[in-house]
Amino acid sequence: MGVEIQESPVTDEEFAAMEEFVREYLRASVQNEDEGGRMRWYPWHSAEYRFNHTRNVVELAGKIAEEEGGDPDVVRVAALFHDVAKLDADQDVHAEEGARIAREYLQSHGDFPESFVDQVCRCVKNHSYQGEVTDLSLETQCLIEGDVLDKVGANGTALMLLRMGYEARTHMDAAEMVERVLQRGTDAMERVESETARNIAHRRLKRVKWFQEWLLDEVVAMEPPSE
Ligand SMILES: [Fe+2]
Repeated sequence: MGVEIQESPVTDEEFAAMEEFVREYLRASVQNEDEGGRMRWYPWHSAEYRFNHTRNVVELAGKIAEEEGGDPDVVRVAALFHDVAKLDADQDVHAEEGARIAREYLQSHGDFPESFVDQVCRCVKNHSYQGEVTDLSLETQCLIEGDVLDKVGANGTALMLLRMGYEARTHMDAAEMVERVLQRGTDAMERVESETARNIAHRRLKRVKWFQEWLLDEVVAMEPPSE
């Protein structure tokens, strides 16, 4: 009985080397930035945040691919490279530039099949597509869904609260700010299509709702967010 076990084109060592490359690339992008670059004091403009986000997207998108029948290797490698150019290219070309960097890396390291490289680069290039995710390959859809989901949930809430500090707000603004995370979660629910991503979005949205409810319950003077 021949159950064919497809060998992954990417070994653990190769994946770890790619991770290191992306981490270093992000670090170098920030070092090259002029003083006072665009809102660089915000945590999500730091190389460290971007790399952490990248790792989360690798996990999320990889899981969605496994459940939905996408190619997890393509998705994980694409997720790893998707924001590599985020800190040194303009927002509207970072996806294309990321695809170029990914291709250059994959073609000069190891011996990856050309079709694999093409699929990875297509995902990276299309990950900022704003239309329906179902217009794209299943792998690109997994990447976009993972990317969207990382902004929702406990992690998104922590980041939003951190932002309050940078904006010199008081903690009494917390319920209002958490409302923005909830709104983002609601938008994410509409953007994602796969069953797996919807379930994750639903679970994460619930966590944010709870947090907001607990805040309002504990802090007497905290105003519920205005509509
Ligand atoms: Fe991203």
